[in-house]
Amino acid sequence: MEGKLYLYPVWVRLWHWLNAMLCLLLIISGVSMQYSDPQYPLIRFDWAVSIHDIAGIILSLSYLFFILGNLLTPNGKQYLFRLKGYFRNIAKQARYYAFGIFKGEDPPFAITEDNKFNPLQRFSYVFIMYVCIPVIVITGWYLLYPEYFLHDIFGNRGLHITDIIHVVMGFLISLFFVVHVYFCTIGKTPLSNYRSMFNGWYEKH
Ligand code: HEM
Repeated sequence: MEGKLYLYPVWVRLWHWLNAMLCLLLIISGVSMQYSDPQYPLIRFDWAVSIHDIAGIILSLSYLFFILGNLLTPNGKQYLFRLKGYFRNIAKQARYYAFGIFKGEDPPFAITEDNKFNPLQRFSYVFIMYVCIPVIVITGWYLLYPEYFLHDIFGNRGLHITDIIHVVMGFLISLFFVVHVYFCTIGKTPLSNYRSMFNGWYEKH
């Protein structure tokens, strides 16, 4: 198709929207458990716990699906990067977002089938999908079944440390969520990237 690239195969789109919905549920139920006054909870506490546990278990499975999909299909290569010039390229892309875009400059890195992410996208997707999500999933399972993990070695301190790591990762993922949804409006039109994630076709600038 003229002016379009097929960048998002069906499995990526299915995984992505399931993952987005689960993350939203986890953020809302997590915030409700963390901050609500027990008298006036955002969501009733026992419901928030059940929603959080069930969504977390499904997220773990969908994460395994994401990892397998990236191991077994060429999509995984999109997440690989070279260290040479890594920070220079990130700075170039950040400069474009801060200044160039407002002067009508062309994006510094062309989107192609072999290179669908710009350096900042790649950095944030790798950090979220290969650092934050695995850490939040592992710490989540530990908080669900503390007796089966390191409790004997670290005792209650282990539980508190795990909880803090879990909450910090939740904060970083929430931050990513907001920034990601905003940055996805930077496309040919504000809605074109969202359309891509439904029909698979990226619309070139
Ligand atoms: C309502 C929430 C969300 C919306 C509207 C949204 C939207 C989009 C759109 C339009 C794209 C394609 C453009 C691009 O590649 O940047 C995309 C890609 C992506 N998003 Fe999201 N997203 C949401 C939530 C999330 C969450 C919560 C995560 C991870 C925790 C996430 C991770 C990703 C990843 C890894 C890709 C690249 C997938 C690939 O092509 O391999 N998204 N998102």
